[in-house]
Amino acid sequence: MDQQIIDIEARTWRLDSTDAKWIAALEAGKVLHFPQMEFALDEAEKQILTPAAQAPGTRSITLDARGRFKGAAGDPGQQAVIAGMIGRFRAQAQDLVHSLLPAYKNTLKMATTSYRPLQVETRVQSWRSDDKRLHVDAFAGRPNHGERILRVFTNINPNGIPRVWRVGEPFEEVARRFLPRTEPYSRWHAYWLRAQFKTKKVRSEYDHLMLQLHDCMKADPEYQKTAKQVTIPFASGSTWVCFSDQASHAAMSGQFMMEQTLHISVDDQYDPQSSPLAILTRLKGHKLV
Ligand code: SIN
Ligand code: FE
Repeated sequence: MDQQIIDIEARTWRLDSTDAKWIAALEAGKVLHFPQMEFALDEAEKQILTPAAQAPGTRSITLDARGRFKGAAGDPGQQAVIAGMIGRFRAQAQDLVHSLLPAYKNTLKMATTSYRPLQVETRVQSWRSDDKRLHVDAFAGRPNHGERILRVFTNINPNGIPRVWRVGEPFEEVARRFLPRTEPYSRWHAYWLRAQFKTKKVRSEYDHLMLQLHDCMKADPEYQKTAKQVTIPFASGSTWVCFSDQASHAAMSGQFMMEQTLHISVDDQYDPQSSPLAILTRLKGHKLV
């Protein structure tokens, strides 16, 4: 398998310069890894590196695109520290993507920023929400009609514990393997889901296929074991970036991570033909959105 992880030496969040090779690799579904790009915490922020920072029953602590802050526990003082840390991470992640991908700058859409203080390996989940299984990101309630999911991650573990991921085969290989197993798309079902408020928009055939790939991958234990893959321990103090709707990934262990999601439309990519929408459209032979 071609190398799926590209190491980049840069230390500062605003890169001095970018490289067409990095951009092409990212848009080809590879993970850009910045081993020395640290998100430095101040003393007050170090005090909130505890699972108790998160409100019971929530998946993570989030700041959404409109600035709504959710999921934090503790008194207003503690919550302000958490919100400040997430806001600062958002600004730094934005610096990174703007300097890495200058042509995205005017069209990139800010989405949720999260702080994830829970330990990955002790989470109990259904197979479908189990991110310890290789998958591409696709969300049942949030059809995106091909819009891309770009994510920046940073491990902020204070005890030097890595966040261990598995990264799988390229998207086209995933698609070629699982498309024959996907259930047919039903427009009526998609409208019904929308009418029932189960989805935020009508689910397109693209969204249906992405969900099917996500589910088929996770539901296949043999594939999980035997698929081409690499295990990568992302060290504390490192940062990585990928299109998570394209890079096959699984989070195996670790605790304390920051994450930024951004969206961009396929047409605004450097190479729209490398997108999951273009690949699936080519393989299916008809329009999917
Ligand atoms: C995921 O996006 O599947 C989870 C990433 C992580 O928790 O490290
Ligand atoms: Fe994921």
